[in-house]
Amino acid sequence: MRIALKITLALTLWTIGVLMVMSERELDNEFEIIDGDLTETLVLMGRALQPLVEDAWSRGGDAQVTAILEAAYAREQTVKLRWLDPARIDAGLEQAALTAAAQACSANEREEVLRWPVDAEPVAIYAYLPVTTSNARRSVLELRRSLAVRDELRARSRRQLSLTILVIGTCAAGMAIGIGWLLVGQRVGRLIALARQVGRGETTKAVAATGHDELTELTSALNDMAADLEDTRARGSRAAAERERLTHELRHADRLATIGALMARLAHEIGTPLNVIAARTKLIAREQVNGAAIVENARIAAEQTDRITAVVRSFLDFARGSREANRRFSADAMVEHVLGLLDSFARERRIELVVGTRAEGQWVRGNLLLLQQAITNLVINALDVAPPDTRVTVDLTMAERTPPDGRGRGPGPYVCVTVADRGPGIDPAALPHLFEAFFTTKPRGAGTGLGLSIAAGIVHEHEGWIDVLPDDGGGTRFVICLPVDADA
Ligand SMILES: Nc1ncnc2c1ncn2[C@@H]1O[C@H](COP(=O)(O)OP(=O)(O)OP(=O)(O)O)[C@@H](O)[C@H]1O
Ligand SMILES: [Mg+2]
Repeated sequence: MRIALKITLALTLWTIGVLMVMSERELDNEFEIIDGDLTETLVLMGRALQPLVEDAWSRGGDAQVTAILEAAYAREQTVKLRWLDPARIDAGLEQAALTAAAQACSANEREEVLRWPVDAEPVAIYAYLPVTTSNARRSVLELRRSLAVRDELRARSRRQLSLTILVIGTCAAGMAIGIGWLLVGQRVGRLIALARQVGRGETTKAVAATGHDELTELTSALNDMAADLEDTRARGSRAAAERERLTHELRHADRLATIGALMARLAHEIGTPLNVIAARTKLIAREQVNGAAIVENARIAAEQTDRITAVVRSFLDFARGSREANRRFSADAMVEHVLGLLDSFARERRIELVVGTRAEGQWVRGNLLLLQQAITNLVINALDVAPPDTRVTVDLTMAERTPPDGRGRGPGPYVCVTVADRGPGIDPAALPHLFEAFFTTKPRGAGTGLGLSIAAGIVHEHEGWIDVLPDDGGGTRFVICLPVDADA
């Protein structure tokens, strides 16, 4: 609509410009014709007067000529007559061009005509005609015709032009509003609505593209673009769903690998209580105990069964799928569970796995199982490198932190879980690659190199980040920071 208005306005201005130039040129042509006619009339009038003047001169000289001219043209307003004696030519004519014409007329005995002023828009025509008097002096008859008619013509032409411009302007505005709306505005409006829908990512309906003009082409192009985008979006969301499924599978596989590594220890963990249960129940079965002792042995057997159930459940919990609801949990409980799972694994290696400081009363929000998996991966790495008879500590702290660029939820309170070991530390050359998938320094078959990349993925999903720092006493410190959930 606005384009139609602009185009119409431009066309209207152009048309008006052309009309003005044409009207000026036409006016000039008309002036040429009028000037020619007026000049001819003036000269003819002069020629008619010539014999009369000569006769009057012969009869009464200068005074007689002047009297005749005054009498003949007393009531004439448009043509002015003057009788110029040769001696008065200079004195009578104040303008140099007129003087020159009159002198030329007198000297050459020739008619002289000129429009005056010479170098500007003329306001009058002057005609000079020679008159031969009896004493052989050549006087001059001056006839002056005003060109005021030009001003009238010009004013009339301007009035007509203004009227034309008014009519054209009104028609153009009507056209712009009416035809512009029908041909352009309405259709462009539909295209704008389509583009907005595409921009908002909504499902679009193709706009009808009828006709053969540029707007139809644009409509077809936009329809195609919207269809392509929808197709790409659908493919993108399928790819995202597939990516999510694969990530889920990978994380699950990582947990199963951890379970596999811990399995031998699980068998051992279950073995001890099973032996106790077997011994106690055999005592009862063989009736080697009676009375209160039966109750006591049964209680011990039940207690050991609970222990086995707890160990097996913690393994099963860890191994099961991770599509669990986003919820709020205590930071301490999150770490506690991991240590419970890995405790026997650490003991087997003669490594002391301990919780240093706690972050009592601090809460975190997210997927508990995934965050436990991330912490488990860090602790297992620490246990893998820690020499026997050393300690791996897990500290929980709460502090105001500013996350690194592109990570975290902005400056604010974060719970940080620090896993510190007394291992060999990290080779500076390996440092930039630690979180890359499949990066491992372990011997072939000993590690997949996925532990840290999976941990980082999980932590970033929870608006947190992981730092790696050398430990003051040798070894390494991995720090997972997660935003504190302040909502009660
Ligand atoms: N606490 C640590 N001390 C020294 N090096 C470490 C420590 N944690 C990780 N690394 C280094 O980072 C590498 C990558 O660790 P990541 O957990 O991703 O894979 P991995 O432990 O090698 O394999 P997987 O986790 O599958 O057993 C390790 O191979 C090791 O070189
Ligand atoms: Mg690892």
